[in-house]
Amino acid sequence: MTQTSSLLSVRDLSVHFRLRRGPKDSRNVRAVDGVTFEIAKGQTLGIAGESGSGKSTVARSLVQITRPTGGTIYLDGSDVTSLKGRRLKEFRRRMQMVFQDPYDSLDPRMSVRDAIGEALSVSGLPRPRHDETVEELLRRVNLPASLARRYPGQLSGGQRQRVSIARALAVNPEIIICDEAVAALDVSIRAQVLNLLKDIQHDTGVAYLFISHDLSTLRFMADQVAIMYVGRVVEYGTSDEVFSRPLHPYTKALIAAVPSVTTRGRTRLKLNGEPPDPGNPPSGCPFHPRCPEAVDQCRLTRPELGTTNEGQSVACHVVLSRHGRDATRQVSP
Ligand SMILES: Nc1ncnc2c1ncn2[C@@H]1O[C@H](COP(=O)(O)OP(=O)(O)O)[C@@H](O)[C@H]1O
Ligand SMILES: [Mg+2]
Repeated sequence: MTQTSSLLSVRDLSVHFRLRRGPKDSRNVRAVDGVTFEIAKGQTLGIAGESGSGKSTVARSLVQITRPTGGTIYLDGSDVTSLKGRRLKEFRRRMQMVFQDPYDSLDPRMSVRDAIGEALSVSGLPRPRHDETVEELLRRVNLPASLARRYPGQLSGGQRQRVSIARALAVNPEIIICDEAVAALDVSIRAQVLNLLKDIQHDTGVAYLFISHDLSTLRFMADQVAIMYVGRVVEYGTSDEVFSRPLHPYTKALIAAVPSVTTRGRTRLKLNGEPPDPGNPPSGCPFHPRCPEAVDQCRLTRPELGTTNEGQSVACHVVLSRHGRDATRQVSP
């Protein structure tokens, strides 16, 4: 993996929530705990993991809806971790978000024209040029210009998500975070929207942080993949590496659960039980109670993300002792 032209660089990002259940009972929920990754210009990083693994919290802390409690976020080399006021506003233009539910980004009382127009105002485009630009953006997401007069409630799910994408594109972002953006769409519509996102990336060079619990979607979209488990990255590598040669037992189990991405002949691992509560994780490796390969060490010490001799990053004692750990290599790609 290359170190060059990293657009977004996330170092040791943590988001801990303090949950108070009574005067003497408060717990620290480590929703995101020491996450490190990079996204190069024009590339897509996919994040996968079961529900509750911290994917949305990573997304929300990047756009600073939720403040990180630790770590640093660099955009194009500048520290953007705790911006305020005008600089935060400018930063938000550069990093846009598309949610699973379009109503999170579209106001039901605003016409498509006004929703996109609002974003254009943020980007400083003079009003007289709004109509033609709205039309252009609708064309860009393969929607007819006549849709501009409609309201979100008058659109199909696929159309609404295309409008959300058009609205995100209106401010010329450098990176778009898609958090389960196609999860609610029918399979055929989903494929169309994924292809649209790829076309847009090809034409504009925008980077994506693409979050999906669906591995076939990620395999289709992502150049790099990070697999999260209880707030931490447990495997990180190129999409080809991770999908064709998963190393972490958790990744293997996730992939085995999806028939379309299973390579023939590989032993099927079953993912038993539920992921642990991030407010009360097991000792040692948080995956050990569900892991078919766990050894004594796994119950005692938590494995850090290390790089194997092949250059893949994995947080697993068993894999790292089997595949060697090259201590001279950086953990990040
Ligand atoms: N505001 C919050 N306060 C307390 N806990 C939270 C908050 N937001 C998220 N969490 C917890 O953080 C964990 C990760 O959640 P989330 O990022 O939504 O996971 P994912 O998107 O992977 O399903 C969950 O256990 C969730 O309950
Ligand atoms: Mg989520």
